[in-house]
Amino acid sequence: MKIAIGNDHAAVKLKNEIMEYVQSMGHEVTNFGTDSTESCNYPEYGEKVGRAVAAGEYDCGILICGTGVGISIAANKVNGVRAAVCSDATTARLVKEHNNANIIAFGERIVGVELAKDIVKAYLDAEFLGGRHAVRVAMFAEIEKRNK
Ligand code: RB5
Repeated sequence: MKIAIGNDHAAVKLKNEIMEYVQSMGHEVTNFGTDSTESCNYPEYGEKVGRAVAAGEYDCGILICGTGVGISIAANKVNGVRAAVCSDATTARLVKEHNNANIIAFGERIVGVELAKDIVKAYLDAEFLGGRHAVRVAMFAEIEKRNK
């Protein structure tokens, strides 16, 4: 898979661990995040990854900040992005199976390295189930169309 990853200053260490992890699984990962721990603004990185994933340049994205929340909110402002914050592996599996999330997010201040790896693996191993879930996921795009 082609994966876009992004992070702010609060998540440089975990980003590096996760990049190494997904590469070891055979995936190709592009780093859109900062490599500096100097304070920066997470919306910039959420938008970059969001646009790259929404444009179809990547199969999915991984976003990491302090909590995973701010950076995912930014990504979700991009049409076509379905970014989900996950702090456990079950949620990570279900956001793919039910919501067809194209980006997962988590926080370096919230999850440890091993849990973050479990979250990423559960998400990457899962598949969208379609069916009744496809009807609901299609409604996300309908909401975007109603936005001015
Ligand atoms: C940065 O201090 C922090 O606010 C950010 O990483 C993130 O947690 C925001 O949601």
